[in-house]
Amino acid sequence: VKKDMEGIDPIALVKEELGHMSDNISRLLESENPTLNKVAKYYFQSTGKQIRPLVVLLLSQAVNDMVKNRQEISASGAAGSSGLNAAGQQRSMDQEDYRFMDVSLFDNSLDNDSVVRDKLIRSALAEASNGKSMYLPTSNNGYGLVVLPPQRRLAEITELIHTASLIHDDIVDQAATRRGMPATHKVFGNKMAVLAGDFFLARASMSLARLRNPEVVELLATVIMDLVEGEFKQLGNSGSSKFNESELDVFNYYLQKTYLKTASLFANSSRATAILGNTSDKCAEVAYLFGKNLGIAFQLVDDLLDFTTTSKMVAGKPVQGADMKLGIATAPVLYAWQENPGVLGPLIARRFKEPDDCKIAWDLVHSGQALAKTRTLVHLYAEKAMASLCLLPPSPSRQALLNLTHSLIYRKF
Ligand code: FPP
Ligand code: MG
Ligand code: MG
Repeated sequence: VKKDMEGIDPIALVKEELGHMSDNISRLLESENPTLNKVAKYYFQSTGKQIRPLVVLLLSQAVNDMVKNRQEISASGAAGSSGLNAAGQQRSMDQEDYRFMDVSLFDNSLDNDSVVRDKLIRSALAEASNGKSMYLPTSNNGYGLVVLPPQRRLAEITELIHTASLIHDDIVDQAATRRGMPATHKVFGNKMAVLAGDFFLARASMSLARLRNPEVVELLATVIMDLVEGEFKQLGNSGSSKFNESELDVFNYYLQKTYLKTASLFANSSRATAILGNTSDKCAEVAYLFGKNLGIAFQLVDDLLDFTTTSKMVAGKPVQGADMKLGIATAPVLYAWQENPGVLGPLIARRFKEPDDCKIAWDLVHSGQALAKTRTLVHLYAEKAMASLCLLPPSPSRQALLNLTHSLIYRKF
């Protein structure tokens, strides 16, 4: 599959859109207060990977294509049944819709590996690897790569919510740097950094309200709640009692936390963009599952990289095992705990606060199968994300999302 996926550069498809987005965000963050302006400008001097808006923009194109196809099919009289959507507009079912039927089979939980689902994933992936070269954007088989204005706004909103959460996160984590520069709170102090994060969030909320779509407002409001709840779950997972519970409970707690702190934004903004594209409920569900599974895979990679690269910074220095230094046990440690419950249970429970705890855990992670098992889990979620994408009709943007998923799980930073 990997070889067949080469060809489409996800960023190339939305390069112009991303450029406009940065301009619009700068405009959104202008205020009457010169100090606030300075903080906002400081933060956006260097953009991050912009993965969330990238996903929203590409997915917008992919689902808009489908609506376009559907309209063409309806126009030619080939459509099946039709109905009205919530907004009272005509909504027709096209021949693709049957493919959304088994969507529930893709939803996940670790103990839910049914043969049926695996079969579905395999066939979806096989389909994805067929004839990809047909969908190169240069050949432009009538694909418009259309992003609607509300979907553009949504891409900006996702980036704003994300950056607000990072400014706050760096205070919570006492991080010295972000994106290679001193963290906002290090430059402007905690008070201004907290307020700047609030301001970003307020601007995102205003922009969201202006979409005049209560369903989308609710989805993104849920994301903000999930971000906070995820952080609380992470702070609270010292709960020594947790490590007397079953393995399943411990992993479920971790995966639930991962959904809340990272995947919820991917999942709900993916659903929101499908809604803004006026697609079917089933398509919105497919978009949600794609975002959810991509988000979990993305965070799992982040947790894995903490043990394999010096991608994280503590006190201004690149370090390995930064999560453990913050007292946090992620998937690699949990797998190592599964292999050595007696040794690691107490260390995790006391959040690695004794002098040798991090080193002991680090060695156990590296000497057993913990990293390999985490990689397997990454692939499981990435495959689920790709399988969801394969329920959308083929298009350059769908291909770009498949490539993006692939490159995110093999990223080194
Ligand atoms: C980065 O994770 C942080 C998050 C995914 C979310 C942080 C959320 C909050 C602080 C709640 C407040 C939310 C809002 C919307 C203001 P990380 O610390 O694991 O990764 P890092 O290495 O990038 O710091
Ligand atoms: Mg954090
Ligand atoms: Mg952090």
